[in-house]
Amino acid sequence: MSEHFDLPNESKPIWKDTLKNFSHEPLNEDVKTEVAIVGGGITGITAAYLLSKSGTKVTLIDADRILSGTTLYTTAKVTAQHNLIYDELISHFGYQIARGYYEANSEAIKLIESIIQDNQIDCAFSKQDAYLYSTTGEYARKIEKEYQAYEGLNINGKITDQIPFNIDIENALYMKDQAQFNPTQYLSQLADLAKNQGTKIYEQTTAVDVQSDENHATVITREGHKIEAKYVLSCSHFPFYEGRGLYSGRLRADRSYVIAFPTDSYPGGYYLAVDQPSRSIRQTTIHHQDYILFGGESHKVGQGGNFQKHYHALKRSAEQIFGKQPIMYRWSTQDLITLDKIPYVGPITKNEPRVLVATGYRKWGMTNSTAAAKLMADTVQGNINPYQEVYQPSRFNADPSLKKFFRENFDVTKHLIKGKLAFPKNKIEDLGKDQATTFVTNGHRKGAYKANDGTVYIVDTTCTHVGCEVNWNDAERTWDCPCHGSRFSYKGEVIEGPAETDLKNYDYHLLDNFDPNKDGGY
Ligand code: FES
Repeated sequence: MSEHFDLPNESKPIWKDTLKNFSHEPLNEDVKTEVAIVGGGITGITAAYLLSKSGTKVTLIDADRILSGTTLYTTAKVTAQHNLIYDELISHFGYQIARGYYEANSEAIKLIESIIQDNQIDCAFSKQDAYLYSTTGEYARKIEKEYQAYEGLNINGKITDQIPFNIDIENALYMKDQAQFNPTQYLSQLADLAKNQGTKIYEQTTAVDVQSDENHATVITREGHKIEAKYVLSCSHFPFYEGRGLYSGRLRADRSYVIAFPTDSYPGGYYLAVDQPSRSIRQTTIHHQDYILFGGESHKVGQGGNFQKHYHALKRSAEQIFGKQPIMYRWSTQDLITLDKIPYVGPITKNEPRVLVATGYRKWGMTNSTAAAKLMADTVQGNINPYQEVYQPSRFNADPSLKKFFRENFDVTKHLIKGKLAFPKNKIEDLGKDQATTFVTNGHRKGAYKANDGTVYIVDTTCTHVGCEVNWNDAERTWDCPCHGSRFSYKGEVIEGPAETDLKNYDYHLLDNFDPNKDGGY
C-alpha cells in the first residue's frame, strides 16, 4: 500500500482554528435561576440564546469548556437531507411524522439563517444544494425510492445522473437550498449574544444528578452545589441524567472520520455516498484558505478495529478523486443514534416534565439540535411547538418492532460479558512507544499505554458508566467504550460521557500481587 501523503500526528478538527477561547469560572455556590442548561454545545447555546432573548433567566454549565465537545467535531452541514431517511420514516410512521421531521429541520435552517441575519454573525453561511449519490445498482434503487418519498412529502428535490467529481455514480438525488456554515464562528458569537442577554455560564462544572417535582427541577453538581430552576435542559450529547428513561438501552454510538486538505477550486454543493464505503464531501474556508472536508468510514464505537486504517482508507479515496494533497487536519466524530433514527427531544420521562432532554441527532446535529433548542424553549415558555409529537422521547417506535431494541441491548450485554471473558496475554515490556495493550492481573482486565517518553499508563478497562470493557483507539489514543460511546484518555480521564467518572489508574511499578504465570501474563 503506497501512502502518497501523511496524516497529521494529532487529531484536530478544522473548526478549532476559529473557536473563540472562552474561559468561565466553575460554579462554586448554590444558585437560583429559571432554566438550568447542562451542556454548552450547539443545543445548549442555541436554547440559552432563544430563552434569554425573551427575558428568561438562564444558567448554563459545561463539564469542560463550552463548544469543546461534540459540536466541534461536526462537518456542519445545515440540511434536512439526512441520508436516506424519508422513505423509511414514511414506511414506519406514515406521512405526517415524516413530513413533520422534514419541516422541523427545514424550519431549523431558516431559524439559523434568521439568527445570523438579525445579529450579523460572520460565519461563512451559504446556501448549498445537498446531494446523495449511489455507486451501485442496489443503492440506485434506494435513491429512486427516496425520490418517490420526496415527491410524496412535497420536498424540493430532483434525481440526476451527474455530480461534478471524478466518481462513477449510478444516480444522485439533490435537495435544493440547503446550507453550510462555520459552526465555531456561529456558536462563539451566539454564546456572546446569550451572555449579553443575561445568560450565566459556568465551565468545568459537572452535573451529576437532578431532583425534580411538578414545578421545579434542581441540578446537583459534582462539588455538591445546586442550581434550582423551573426547568432543567439536558443538552449534554448523551443525557447526563437518565431518570427512568432507559436511554442507555435506547441509544447507540457510531464513530466516523474526517480529513481536510486544501483546494483551489470547488464546484459547490455537498455530497454523500449512500452505499458502502460511505463518503462525504464538502468545502469550507478557514483563514482565507479553501479546504475540502472528506469524511466517512462509520462504525459502531469500540468496534472499528485498527483505527488508523479508517484514515488511510479515506486518504486513498480522496486521492482517487482529487489527486495527491497534503492532509492538514484529521479528526473523528461520535454520533448517537436512537432506535428509530429520530432524536429524543422533550420531557425525559412522563413523570419528570420539568426535565427536558435532547439527544440522538444521528449525523445531523446542526438542524436537529436547533429544532430541539426551539422545541425546548417553546416548552419552557408555554408555546405550542408543532414538532413535539415527532421528537417526543417517550415514544417507543422500535425500528420497526421490539426486535431491534433487544438486539441493541443484547449488544450491550454481549460487550459486558465478552469484554470480561477476553483475557489477552500481551506483555507490557513488549509494547513499543505509542502503543497500547490489554492484560490481566489478579483476574482483572487492565489497559496499558506506553507514551513516546517511555512512561507506561495503566487503567482499569471497566467503563465507569455501566461496566462494559473499553477498547484501545490507536488513532485518537483513547480508551473507547463499545456500549454507549464513553471515551477516556490514555490516563483514564473522561473525554466524553455518559461516563462521569475517570477510569481507575494504577502505577505500573506498584501493581501488586502480580503473578504472570497465574494470571496469564501481564
Ligand atoms: Fe455505557 Fe461504557 S458502559 S458508555
